[in-house]
Amino acid sequence: MQYQISTNSAADVQASCIVVTLDQSGKLSDAAAAINNASNGFIQARIDDKDISGKLAQTLLLPAVAGVKASRVLLVGTGKDALTRSSAVKVLNAIASASSGFSGSIALALNELANDNLSEEWLAEQSAMAFGNALYRFTETKSKQDDDVRQPDSIIWLGSDVSAALNKGEAVAQGVAYAKTLGNMPPNICTPSYLAEQAQELAASGALEVTILDEDQLEEMGAGAFVSVAKGSSEPGKMIIMKYNGAADKNAAAHMILGKGITFDTGGISLKPGLGMDEMKYDMCGAASVLGAMKSLLALKPAINVIGMITSAENMPAGHASKPGDVVASLSGKTIEILNTDAEGRLVLCDALTYGIDNFKPASIVDIATLTGACMAALGRVNSGLFTTDEVLAGELQNAASHSGDKVWRLPLEDDYQELLDSNFADIANIGGPLAGATTAACFLARFTEGTPWAHLDIAGTAWNTGGKTKGATGRPVPLLVNYLLAK
Ligand code: BES
Ligand code: MN
Ligand code: ZN
Repeated sequence: MQYQISTNSAADVQASCIVVTLDQSGKLSDAAAAINNASNGFIQARIDDKDISGKLAQTLLLPAVAGVKASRVLLVGTGKDALTRSSAVKVLNAIASASSGFSGSIALALNELANDNLSEEWLAEQSAMAFGNALYRFTETKSKQDDDVRQPDSIIWLGSDVSAALNKGEAVAQGVAYAKTLGNMPPNICTPSYLAEQAQELAASGALEVTILDEDQLEEMGAGAFVSVAKGSSEPGKMIIMKYNGAADKNAAAHMILGKGITFDTGGISLKPGLGMDEMKYDMCGAASVLGAMKSLLALKPAINVIGMITSAENMPAGHASKPGDVVASLSGKTIEILNTDAEGRLVLCDALTYGIDNFKPASIVDIATLTGACMAALGRVNSGLFTTDEVLAGELQNAASHSGDKVWRLPLEDDYQELLDSNFADIANIGGPLAGATTAACFLARFTEGTPWAHLDIAGTAWNTGGKTKGATGRPVPLLVNYLLAK
């Protein structure tokens, strides 16, 4: 997508569509009024006929309005109250989906929507993200490409010079689209080796240094928790490390983001039920969000050091798979009793946490994982679960969430829950029983992060949409991660 800034009046801008707003009292924005005047009251007549009331996110498309240079006018309602971040996102999404089928350029006269809580920059950034979402298509595994796709190729922002915000929104949108595609990719293609290739391709396109650890190397170094999952599959497991060194001091401690990359989760010997099991291909969306965030960083080139790490395996039932009751030694030396082979995410993550902390001494770590059904049950598809005892990290992630709209909700991570993980036969059990499942999963990870500022994001509910036409990956939490890292 190309972006331009224009100070033309809404009636004079050359575009395939000009977007203007009205509120629920029927009051036209100045831009809408300019179009109304240029067209001898054409817009007001439509409102008088009750074609549109101005309800939040309501749209009305008017082709070829006389006196207006753009080929179409899209009228959009902004509701009755001052816009908040979340109502503004609804308006922008409605605009993007109503205008995403026209080729050429879409002119947005939205600067008047700025208020004390919403800056023009923020509106521009979110517009670029909204168009990215509306234009996204997954075509990788369809045999016929639709050769009749009409899509806009540029956005014209009417107002101040908000190019930096548009650039940022576009970079986030590219990271989101990439994460969606990885999450939507079928699990016979998107394997741990495929994720490793993706990292290498990203590195070839920009300033990234990539290291891949294979299963044999991991076994040799003693990453027994990781290997206990990977060994059940004939797809070899991988740990993937991507270093982005943008800071003036290349040796300054990096901020690490670590993603769970289970490219298919059958549950292993603790097999999951069959219904809907296809969706367990999205158990690598933590990894996808790390690749997506790295892609955005490569476009924005911020002056920070970031390590993106992915711990990737396929969780399968097999003759050589782990069994409930097995005890394995993790890279940290702690022994783990595997009571349920379906609690595999924490097993591949704990060794990655140990490896990351020992080898890179990161300034902070955020791990991102589709870790528990319990988190999805608690928070649904709205908020990702945020677990941390570090108040600074919590604040940074909450700020990034509220700026981006990629929301988080804090859930408890207290030592009082740790005893649920006690084992009679090992240092720790890999499940904590039926209660507080999202918290006991986080408590398990906490045992491997001592001394490093660390937060855990459970994205089981937010990385994927189920059902009908919306079924597929969401690209979350790429917007959250990028905003969090840019504010470092
Ligand atoms: N990948 C799943 C969690 C999950 C469930 C993600 C539903 C997305 C949608 C994870 O590996 C898992 O199976 N967790 C178990 C843990 C349990 C055995 C303690 C779960 O949540 O049931
Ligand atoms: Mn599982
Ligand atoms: Zn899983």
